[in-house]
Parts: sequence; structure tokens; C-alpha cells
Amino acid sequence: MNPATSPLIDRFGRRHNNLRISVTDRCNIRCVYCMPENPEFMARHQLLQFEEIERFVRIVVPMGIDKIRLTGGEPLVRRGLPDLVGRLAGIPGIRDIGLTTNGILLAPLARPLWDAGLRRINVSLDTLDPGRFLELTRRTGVDQVIEGIMAAKSAGFEPVKVNAVAIKGTSEPDIVPLARLARENGLELRFIEYMPLDGGTWERGKVLLAEEILEILTREFGALIPVADPDHRAPAADFDFADGGGRIGLIASVSRPFCMSCNRIRLTSDGRLRNCLFALDETDLRTLLRGGADDAEIARAVRDSVAAKWEGHEINSSRFIQPGRLMHSIGG
Ligand code: 5AD
Ligand code: SF4
Repeated sequence: MNPATSPLIDRFGRRHNNLRISVTDRCNIRCVYCMPENPEFMARHQLLQFEEIERFVRIVVPMGIDKIRLTGGEPLVRRGLPDLVGRLAGIPGIRDIGLTTNGILLAPLARPLWDAGLRRINVSLDTLDPGRFLELTRRTGVDQVIEGIMAAKSAGFEPVKVNAVAIKGTSEPDIVPLARLARENGLELRFIEYMPLDGGTWERGKVLLAEEILEILTREFGALIPVADPDHRAPAADFDFADGGGRIGLIASVSRPFCMSCNRIRLTSDGRLRNCLFALDETDLRTLLRGGADDAEIARAVRDSVAAKWEGHEINSSRFIQPGRLMHSIGG
């Protein structure tokens, strides 16, 4: 088998086709579950340049990577992002490019991103209430996010997905209003269980469980119907409203880990490859990319990282250790 073109299959038989690329660790807001108020951001020279990202993607496509998602920090604070989208969309073998954004800067960028070849968009929005938005993000901006969502719809994104992280004791009053917004505007809303990637404030008791969210939704909207035969690799369990008012997803990363169907690898903005959100080790690809390594060497480093991937995160065991790298510099 040619190591530069054979699929990225790990010891547990998982085939990796999905690459998440973080383009910056910076963000224009400060979600409490993601970063501290004053994080230490990377210096610009540490960030991979678009040329370096493009070269990396060209190397991993022959190994089966065909799906890309751009993340951050907040990816839209990286100047020229549509240019990167265009470069990646032009690589033969890439069949799908997505973006996860907080939506604040999205309104003016939705169309340029679409025109560059972006076709999937997830906007993070945890609440419609300005007070709780401030509490959760330490900044204002809920109106800009809604504007961004509407601009994405007009630009052609279908569906626009909305991600909401749910925290026990905070998010309960937000579940129904978010669901209403989604139903009224044809958005696909997914609730995400709060994961320990925030450098230490996470506690098990702060996780609003998928099951509890479903209960709140059921109380308001009646029974939700589990969607038959969902994509077994998708982390979200999907439900349809009985009245045909759309679809809701629950991402139970903590209470029902989906590690056994994980197909993802992650490139950080400073060029480290991570084989798991919760990985404690990383592979330094930037040094290879900048040190004259040839494509085969880089391919080998990717293969070695996938080979070392563990079975799954151990959030639910006493052995669990939070990675030193926080969510804003992994990208989710
Ligand atoms: N737990 C769960 N989801 C998180 N996100 C950020 N931090 C966490 C966390 N600790 C989400 C964001 C965004 C995506 C990139 O990850 O809300 O939707
Ligand atoms: Fe920024 Fe996203 Fe982190 Fe919130 S979750 S601080 S929007 S990177």
C-alpha cells in the first residue's frame, strides 16, 4: 500500500475523511465555556499562512480527506477568509467545505463566502436574551448574530445550522425560544452538551444533558420523533417536531460519546495536528511545513498521528485530564 494514498484508518477501524482547520485562536467575543477573559493569543507569525494550509490539504486529499470545516477562535476575524475558501474549493477531491462562526461578522461576509465556494454554515448562538448573551459571551452582539443568520439564508445557505451550547442552571430558559426561532426561520438547531475544554471551570453538574433538553422541548412542543436511519457518523441525534415544524439535533458529547464513529482530525491555527478534541499530544506540522519537509514526510506524520489515536475521550472516567489547549485554540 502506498502510504501517501492509502486511507487514514486507525487501530479501531475508523476511517478519517473529515479535517477541521482552525484559522485563528482569536475571537471577538469571550464565551465562558471556551476561553478566559484575557487569553494569551498566538503571534501572527505562528499562524499557518493560506499557502501552507492549502499545501497541507493537497497532501491529505489522496489519503481520503474530502470534507473540511473552517473554525477558530472566530474564523471570520482572520483577514481574507473567502480567499482561503476559494483556494480549498479549487482542490480536486474536496467535496464539502463548511464554516463554524459566532455570526457577529457574518452579515457582510455571507455572500463573498458563498461565492468563494462555501456551502455549509453553522452559527453558534446560545441565547436570544441580551442579558444572558452578555453573561455567556462577556460581550454584546446578539442582534448582529441574528442579522448574520438571515444574511446567510439570503446568500443561499440551506440549511443554516445553529449550534447552542447548553449549561445547566443558565440555559434552560433559552431552549424553547431558540427552538421557536429555528422553527419560524427554517434553521436547523442543534444543542451541544457542555464539554470540559475551558481550562477548569467545567463541572459535571453544569452539563445540561441531551435528555433534559429533550424533556424541555417535549413539554412545549409535544413528542419529538427520532429521525430514522440517521447518518451513523453524525454526532447529532436528530428529532422531528410532530407537527412538521422542522428538525432539532442533540449532540450528547458527554452523556453519549460518539467517539467510535469519529472520522475527524484537526489542524490548529499554529499548525499542530490533533487526533482528538481531548488529545494531550499533538504533531508539529508547522515545523515540517516550514523546514523543507517533502510531501511524503508530512503524509507520514499525519498517518502516525492517526495511528496513535486513542479509542475515545474519558470524560466519564476518573482518568480524564483536560487538555492544556482550550477550545478557542482547537476550534471545536
Ligand atoms: N463545550 C461544548 N461546545 C463548545 N463550544 C465551544 N466551547 C465548548 C464547550 N466547552 C462550541 C461553540 C461552537 C463550537 C465551535 O464549539 O459554541 O458552536
Ligand atoms: Fe469565540 Fe466561539 Fe469561543 Fe465563543 S465559542 S469565545 S465565539 S471561539
